[in-house]
Amino acid sequence: MGLAHDLEALAIDIAREAGELARVRRTEGVAIAATKSALADIVTEADREVEALIRRRLRTERPDDGFLGEETGAERGLSDITWVVDPIDGTVNYAYGIPQYAVSIAAVTGEPTPEQWEAISAVVFNPASAELFHAARGDGAWRGEQRLVVNAEPSPAGALLATGFGYDPATHAGDLERVARVMPLARDLRRAGAASLDFAFVAAGRLDGYFERGLQPWDHAAGALLVTEAGGMVGGGGLGGTASSALSVACGPLLFDRLLTAALG
Ligand code: IPD
Ligand code: CA
Repeated sequence: MGLAHDLEALAIDIAREAGELARVRRTEGVAIAATKSALADIVTEADREVEALIRRRLRTERPDDGFLGEETGAERGLSDITWVVDPIDGTVNYAYGIPQYAVSIAAVTGEPTPEQWEAISAVVFNPASAELFHAARGDGAWRGEQRLVVNAEPSPAGALLATGFGYDPATHAGDLERVARVMPLARDLRRAGAASLDFAFVAAGRLDGYFERGLQPWDHAAGALLVTEAGGMVGGGGLGGTASSALSVACGPLLFDRLLTAALG
């Protein structure tokens, strides 16, 4: 089995429990707890409660590992493993009652920064649809029992692409310029509101590609492994062309150079 499998299995178990908590809290009504980087960047009580659950379980089962979570920050561990967690990715969807949000959990080795880490296990779980996407390095990406394969190349009509927009209104003009540069490659564009699920959908062939500026490490840690294990490529504006807040791009290998070049501008 190996370490990556063991950590994948643990992440699946924790993501299911965490997702169920998020789902139940959603049915009880959502309270906005605070705003963060911008007025549009919200955190709900559920985000905090779900991250606390995930952190508690990891501390019990893997006490030596590090942790990097959207809501509670970073803690270095004694082992080489760090858990990178977004308790609810797609918080605005969650707050509005749109069933497109996910618990995202990745185990990475090496320095806990996206440019230096290597993801080895990943889970993206949407509790509203009960869809669970998972991967272990070297063993493919899966939706439940079904193995995922990215679309090798877009149709002659162009690529079905997804993107996202930053919370800070000052970034919107640049985001729209990027969309304009990329549109000649596209048959159409989706903005579904949860980056981890955008990556998962690329892995599953539901999208031909995805690009976004402004992602945080927990937005792409798990999703990027899903895409590469499904035969796709992930890159962007980080050192050495890694996915980063400057730019993240994910798609099949035949589209990658064109999409990256257009998105970079
Ligand atoms: C956000 C979502 C959204 C993306 C933003 C992310 P959050 O994550 O993934 O789709 O466009 O860049 O910050 O704040 O809902 O966890
Ligand atoms: Ca989040």
